[in-house]
Amino acid sequence: MAATCVVGLQWGDEAKGKIVDLLTEQNDIVVRYQGGSNAGHTVVFDGKKYKLSLIPSGIFRSNVQCVIAGGVVLNPQSFLGEIDGMIAHGISCENLILSDRAHVIMPWHFEEDRLMNRTTSGEDIGTTMRGIGPCYRDKVGRSWAIRLGDLYRDNFANRVRMICEAKNPILYSLDPEGGEHRLDAEKIVADYLGYAARMKGRVTDTTAYLLDALDSGKKILLEGAQGALLDIDHGTFPYVTSSNSSGVGVCSGAGIPARSIQKLVGIIKAYTTRVGGGPFPTEQDNEIGQHIRDEGNEYGTVTKRPRRCGWFDAVAAYYTARLSGATDLAVMLLDVLSKLPEIQICTEYEIDGVRTKHFPSHVDDLRKVKPIFITLPGWQKDITGCTKWAELPENAKNYVRKIRELVGVPVEIVSVGPDRQQTIFVED
Ligand code: GDP
Ligand code: IMO
Ligand code: MG
Repeated sequence: MAATCVVGLQWGDEAKGKIVDLLTEQNDIVVRYQGGSNAGHTVVFDGKKYKLSLIPSGIFRSNVQCVIAGGVVLNPQSFLGEIDGMIAHGISCENLILSDRAHVIMPWHFEEDRLMNRTTSGEDIGTTMRGIGPCYRDKVGRSWAIRLGDLYRDNFANRVRMICEAKNPILYSLDPEGGEHRLDAEKIVADYLGYAARMKGRVTDTTAYLLDALDSGKKILLEGAQGALLDIDHGTFPYVTSSNSSGVGVCSGAGIPARSIQKLVGIIKAYTTRVGGGPFPTEQDNEIGQHIRDEGNEYGTVTKRPRRCGWFDAVAAYYTARLSGATDLAVMLLDVLSKLPEIQICTEYEIDGVRTKHFPSHVDDLRKVKPIFITLPGWQKDITGCTKWAELPENAKNYVRKIRELVGVPVEIVSVGPDRQQTIFVED
């Protein structure tokens, strides 16, 4: 049994897509197992840039089977739009199957996302407005959920009618201006039956497929979306996404046993970013943060929102690497720090005057954190052309070594640019 996972260890956008694309050639199957079209994964090769949201980043190699597993929430319209976009770029998407267990994002989920974004503390979660949280809420609630497999059953139309009848008054009470009957069940049924017809050849029992693949010795690569600090159970709740986006979510999302996981590559940026609301202890809401944003082009792949930027947080990464079971690390976007004369790393938190290396479980304590930094010298050289560990400036190597020491996990890969070629396999 041989499965490798790629999991973000920060607040998302750690460049997971680049690593999944790189590792794809060593695998037979690539699986996306949680989240939905809130994700934006970028892959760059041969001078072209591809942005993926639901489609696994393994899609560029036609000899690999891609799978969207049961833990994903799927918006059929955006999925089909993405497929059309890929085909227009000459990428065949024939090798992509979808789990009949995946939950379907329906029009009411967008309305609910828009109307229920604010937390009780008055701050917005700042969701991507893709209907993700409401769809997962209905999944857990069960009564009003629709799975991909349901689209092909006789009672689908009736289900939609019943749900619209229940949801219309709720939406009206949240937002009277939208009217009493904003969900038009017949139109929704017609639209979704159209999507279902286009997806039909792909929808199958992917859990059975993956279990058989493991039994026959196939190599599986599992592509995480978001990052561990956005995990619904273990992240910075309530400023999180609605799935288990840390390593703990791999097995439930994909439908494979824990003992099949051989390797988990934790993806970290050489600094930290966050999109949306919630505390961010090492945030640099100043010219340093702006410098990182400019150098790293830190604007959302999906929503284009400017990402909040700050120093590397080793307290958070130590926590998420242990939680996720990271066996290796990939340190991404190291080149973004190349111009800085000095670089800081947060090694400890101070909360109410007490120092700790443990990441707090309650968001109120996280808000109180005073980060304790160490300062390392920068390298102030362009490293985007380096292809070997030996070619990196000594200060850049020392920076990576410090991350390895603080997180306590070996660094296997260092990335110095978006292209497949701009990747260093660490020999140290
Ligand atoms: P994901 O959501 O984790 O897959 O990450 P995103 O694709 O949302 O964001 C990562 C961004 O960084 C993308 O625009 C990548 O093309 C880019 N990128 C990846 N690796 C590197 C790197 O080493 N250096 C630089 N400068 N950019 C990178
Ligand atoms: P990738 O896979 C960064 C954030 C949103 C918001 C919170 C909840 O590209 O790393 P949601 O729409 O999921 O209910 O929003 O989670 N978020 C992401 N941030 N990268 C992502 O995905 C994200 N997906 C969701 O900004 O703060
Ligand atoms: Mg992203």
